Amino acid sequence: MRQVPRNVSYLLIGNGRVARHFQYYFSLLQLPFATWHRLESLPLLREQIRSASHILLLISDDGVDPFIDAHLSKSSAVLIHCSGSLNSRKAYGAHPLMTFGSAIYADDIYASLPFMIDDHALAFADLLPGLPNAHFRLDRRNKAKYHALCVLAGNFSCLLWQKLLGDFEQDLGWPAASAAPYLKQQMQNLLSDYRNALTGPLVRGDSLTLQRNLDALKNDPFQAVYHSFISCYRSITEAP
Ligand SMILES: NC(=O)c1ccc[n+]([C@@H]2O[C@H](COP(=O)([O-])OP(=O)(O)OC[C@H]3O[C@@H](n4cnc5c(N)ncnc54)[C@H](OP(=O)(O)O)[C@@H]3O)[C@@H](O)[C@H]2O)c1
Repeated sequence: MRQVPRNVSYLLIGNGRVARHFQYYFSLLQLPFATWHRLESLPLLREQIRSASHILLLISDDGVDPFIDAHLSKSSAVLIHCSGSLNSRKAYGAHPLMTFGSAIYADDIYASLPFMIDDHALAFADLLPGLPNAHFRLDRRNKAKYHALCVLAGNFSCLLWQKLLGDFEQDLGWPAASAAPYLKQQMQNLLSDYRNALTGPLVRGDSLTLQRNLDALKNDPFQAVYHSFISCYRSITEAP
């Protein structure tokens, strides 16, 4: 049975999406934690800081270092932020590789997500004691590239699916759910064999179809996206 570590007391700072998910996850794990966000009082913050061994700054990336300067410069607690792109000299980075929306997830999702931690961070058991998650170390020189990859794949593909689902509903009169099997199978194919998951006119070299697609997107901001994917695909497949 998993042990709750001794002498560990977390303080979770922030009131946004990650803070809410982490509060739920830490409760599931029965880890001792307090919370604070900026609508609460500074005396309460000072009191919470005094009793914390580990402080997670679950706030906007730009706010992390200024918050530490303003409130945590004298604290001896382990300071951790969860930004995937920030290189802070004041807190260790531990990026949960997950998208956190407004709804709480099924319990098993939380333990399944890996943390990508700064190369110089403490051993994972000391950095985030009591968390059973997998972790991988990230050379801070690669952090900007790592985060760019996450945004490209996670956030930008989300924009593309939002476009398809929205246009299905609004332009074609179909329910968004009609695309669910397509979306699920695309995800499954990527998970089972990502190198061979791409189908469609780019792979087939169907240039007339590509042109018809581009023409159909005239006056649509996604026409430029389509163009850029064609040229990107040509560069990566024609590269020596
Ligand atoms: N959401 C994700 O999918 C995700 C995934 C991995 C990592 N992260 C990282 O997790 C961190 C939190 O992201 P989030 O998505 O939870 O953001 P969010 O939902 O936008 O919440 C941001 C929180 O930060 C607070 N805040 C902003 N500036 C602050 C400041 N200067 N001082 C104190 N509090 C401040 C906000 O307070 P108010 O409510 O008062 O404005 C709010 O509680 C970020 O570093 C982000 O990069 C997010």
